[in-house]
Amino acid sequence: MKIGILISGRGSNMVALVDAAKSDEIPDSEVVVVISDNPDAAGLSKARDRGVEALVIERKGRSREDHDLEIVSALREREVDLVCLAGYMRLLSPEFVNAFPARIVNIHPSLLPSFPGLDAQQQAIDQGVKISGCTVHVVDEFLDNGAIIVQQAVEVRDDDSAETLAARILDREHIAYVEAVKKIASGRLRIEGSRTVFSG
Ligand code: GAR
Repeated sequence: MKIGILISGRGSNMVALVDAAKSDEIPDSEVVVVISDNPDAAGLSKARDRGVEALVIERKGRSREDHDLEIVSALREREVDLVCLAGYMRLLSPEFVNAFPARIVNIHPSLLPSFPGLDAQQQAIDQGVKISGCTVHVVDEFLDNGAIIVQQAVEVRDDDSAETLAARILDREHIAYVEAVKKIASGRLRIEGSRTVFSG
């Protein structure tokens, strides 16, 4: 399975996936390209250090559709089977989503459907929930929507800041994302309506 990863920043989830594919923890898979919309993304050099092609495709005042179509053609040229969003901070256009039907996944730092959108960890603290976590889900054209593949929970402590909670969740993100991509690579994950079902 050829994987393409989209990032906008640090790229720690991308690194977790690249390393898991290289070590065969995710069998028969390879990350063939990392694409960032942000030329300053720290993840770009982390990908190159691991021998993975890393491209910058900026929006540069274009429409979302034109920007997305350039990314789609870069992914298609490399025959990508699965697109993983890993801290990619843009909403995909329907054109992008339809180009890879049910083959785009995202990780979000909350237990969806709670706290979609920006600042999910601060939203959790403001709401006073005692448990939060992360979600890996199939991407559709709506923000942080789509069938859930894996979730992992963490406790929210009374003295947490958004930063301390984000760090605790991030540790789990790296594990959850690898688990989700392993499930997809196994060919035993199917989508049934709004759910995914794994016949493991
Ligand atoms: C992660 O916490 C990820 O869940 C979040 O951005 C961070 C990226 O970290 N994504 C979103 O909030 C998307 N809605 P990383 O660049 O180190 O993987």
